[in-house]
Amino acid sequence: MYRVVVAGSGIALPERVVTNTELSQKVDTSDDWITERTGIRQRHVAAEGEYTSDLAARAGTAALEDAGLTPDDIDLIIVATATPDLTFPATAAIVQQKMGVRQGAAFDLQAVCTGFVYALSTAEKFLACGQHRNALVIGAETFSRILDWEDRRTCVLFGDGAGAFVLQAQTAEEAGDRGVLASHLRCDGRMVDLLYVDGGPSTTGTAGHLRMEGNKVFREAVGRISAAMVETMKEANLPFSDVDWFVPHQANQRIIGGVVKKLDLNIDKVVSTIAHHGNTSAASIPLAFHAARQDGRIKKDDLVLIEGMGGGLTWGAALFRF
Ligand code: ACO
Repeated sequence: MYRVVVAGSGIALPERVVTNTELSQKVDTSDDWITERTGIRQRHVAAEGEYTSDLAARAGTAALEDAGLTPDDIDLIIVATATPDLTFPATAAIVQQKMGVRQGAAFDLQAVCTGFVYALSTAEKFLACGQHRNALVIGAETFSRILDWEDRRTCVLFGDGAGAFVLQAQTAEEAGDRGVLASHLRCDGRMVDLLYVDGGPSTTGTAGHLRMEGNKVFREAVGRISAAMVETMKEANLPFSDVDWFVPHQANQRIIGGVVKKLDLNIDKVVSTIAHHGNTSAASIPLAFHAARQDGRIKKDDLVLIEGMGGGLTWGAALFRF
């Protein structure tokens, strides 16, 4: 078995920024309400003709450069997205084409806001067994395209963007202490109705709009996320006090705060970018991770714990030494 190391990261954000104040001119909301209830101050929104695959390919290319690799080195692409360019082919296939990768496998993975945790855990298995050597794991979304812009309960929450990791299979000697140490994935399909999109190819034949019972999702969040984090740390046989950085899915600052309180984590070790990006679903974890690398917080050899929860409901956590 190989160790699976995070060898690079990269991000892409649409140029256009929409502030809470701008949104409050379109729907009955306010900067105060959004900031107080969620922590969100602004979000990025894709331009016309700017697709999930464009953001994913940009983030992927940046991650490759960061890892010192070229498209010829990549033999697996997994794109976690709930907003694919097309019903098929997979956005990962379009990304492969746009990035100039000409070998290996490519597929999409759909676990909504838990997508990046699911994709990282999936890629880790492909690489650990030696079947693939260098994987691009990309979380990419254009949620602006599936929002009901007249529904103030949902449209204020989400944003567009992409983030990517390069994962590399390394021998124990090459990796040292680095690599993915544990992950824990869950789903409870009984809660499908709490958070879904009311359209799809086999039902309405349309893309549909996001629908969410926000307060019910909120009530489920802290306990389930915390439990997945506890399981992950148990599997790695490490205490929470060893974690250098907690990089949560950025859904709501109050959920993040609830998890920090429940598990008695050090708030100074929590990475939060929700104010700038809003909830970018599968993209939020790599966006936050990369931001904390760029500002010098996350460094090589740091122990990083990630978690997510989203439609399904799905939830999960993963631990890696960067
Ligand atoms: N502006 C002003 N008022 C609003 C807005 C808004 N944007 N949205 C809702 N309200 C109003 C409601 O109408 C309601 O008014 P009423 O009392 O007169 O009926 C009041 O505010 C309270 O509404 P709640 O929904 O109870 O508000 P809550 O405190 O629960 O906050 C929120 C809503 C932010 C959505 C919160 O519930 C939340 O973050 N939920 C979890 C979201 C999440 O984590 N999703 C999972 C990931 S997403 C994914 O997988 C795609």
